[in-house]
Amino acid sequence: MLNTILKNKPWIIVAVFGAAGLAGLSVPLINVAVDKPVAVPPQELAGKTQAFALASPLLQTSCLPCHSARTTLPWYAQLPIAKQMIAANMAQGLNEFNLEERLYTEGKAPSAHTLEEIEDVLTKGEMPPLEYTAAHWNAFITPAKKQIVLDWILEERAALSKSPALTSGVAP
Ligand code: HEC
Repeated sequence: MLNTILKNKPWIIVAVFGAAGLAGLSVPLINVAVDKPVAVPPQELAGKTQAFALASPLLQTSCLPCHSARTTLPWYAQLPIAKQMIAANMAQGLNEFNLEERLYTEGKAPSAHTLEEIEDVLTKGEMPPLEYTAAHWNAFITPAKKQIVLDWILEERAALSKSPALTSGVAP
């Protein structure tokens, strides 16, 4: 049986193994094409705490791709089907929660509400969505990374409660 196939259509074997190989490779290959990081101008970090300096790169890698209007789409997002899926996902994320605006653009301390929303999705493990981390391993929030972000939230919260006069200058 195999002999006959090999004799008549040897290219079938090549095609089958080729397709399986490509499918197996495609996920790791997507990881090689790391997204361009969302650049945050240094002055936005000035005056921020050490805890934020540690948490910020994690938020930029794991959250901002879908919660910032400035994200540059990765190359494979230009592929026809991927484009629609990724664009829809990003638009929805941005629509629900504009993290860049709240943390980086306003230049103000994040509100208690923003801190609570971030804490909530992190502790429940809801964000980043699994579909995303499956293809972007660097965006996966490990327990250690989660702790860094939670430490920053605690610090911001403590600062907020200490200076009630600042609340008027707090971002949404
Ligand atoms: C792949 C894109 C993507 C990434 C990356 C991502 N999100 Fe989201 N996010 C979404 C989408 C889509 C929604 C709206 C649908 C939903 O709630 O599941 C959303 C909703 C939210 C919401 C509001 C709704 C809710 O459940 O409270 C918050 C807050 C949030 N994301 C925070 C984060 C944080 C923090 C990170 C990083 C740790 C992150 N997201 C990473 C796509 C993303």
